[in-house]
Amino acid sequence: MSSLLPDHASVSALLRHRRSIKPADLDPARVVDQGLLLQVIEDATWAPNHGLTEPWKFHVFTGESRALLAGGLQKAYRDSTPPEEFREDKMRKMGENPLLAPVVIACVMERHGGGGKIPEIEEVEAVACALQNLQISATAAGLGGYWSSPPVLEAPSFRQWLGIRAGDRCLGLVYLGWPKAELKWPRSVRRPVLDKVVWREGTA
Ligand SMILES: Cc1cc2nc3c(=O)[nH]c(=O)nc-3n(C[C@H](O)[C@H](O)[C@H](O)COP(=O)(O)O)c2cc1C
Repeated sequence: MSSLLPDHASVSALLRHRRSIKPADLDPARVVDQGLLLQVIEDATWAPNHGLTEPWKFHVFTGESRALLAGGLQKAYRDSTPPEEFREDKMRKMGENPLLAPVVIACVMERHGGGGKIPEIEEVEAVACALQNLQISATAAGLGGYWSSPPVLEAPSFRQWLGIRAGDRCLGLVYLGWPKAELKWPRSVRRPVLDKVVWREGTA
């Protein structure tokens, strides 16, 4: 085994350490180096994907472009939300969040390979694997962030704004940045693993 490989205990600790860190807990002034971003995204692309279709595209918003993203999200929310469901607080957050995080990555599932033979669900699953890779790689680098999936990502006006083709889908916005110095790393819980396992041994 290559000595470059981390030991199992380290990988397990990394997986358990990852937390969803909201934009308000990221340092908006501390830039994330583009080389690091590329490494994290390249790590994402090592996810399993059926037929090697690599069904992902990462739209990386940094600097001024985050305000454009905020505007695109807000317009789509306004256009796609019936008046009785419209919430001012959601509208405000859509405008604020992209400016609080130094990096926002719109993660798109693109159906461009495999001659259309791979079912959509498998392409979605591959992108989900990639996004987990991305989050784990970012965590290992010391970055914080989270996967956000507001329904507005499916709204026609947002799809048009981002340039999503028919059949493709934006599956999430991943917010990334350096955690604020004062952030207390959040704790989370998972139910006991034995509640989730069915041992099927023998002939029964
Ligand atoms: C597909 C997917 C979509 C998610 N969308 C949202 C979201 O829209 N808003 C949100 O607050 N968290 C979202 N999350 C993050 C979860 O809320 C978070 O993973 C969960 O609370 C567990 O916390 P942890 O990530 O710190 O373990 C999403 C996670 C996944 C896997």
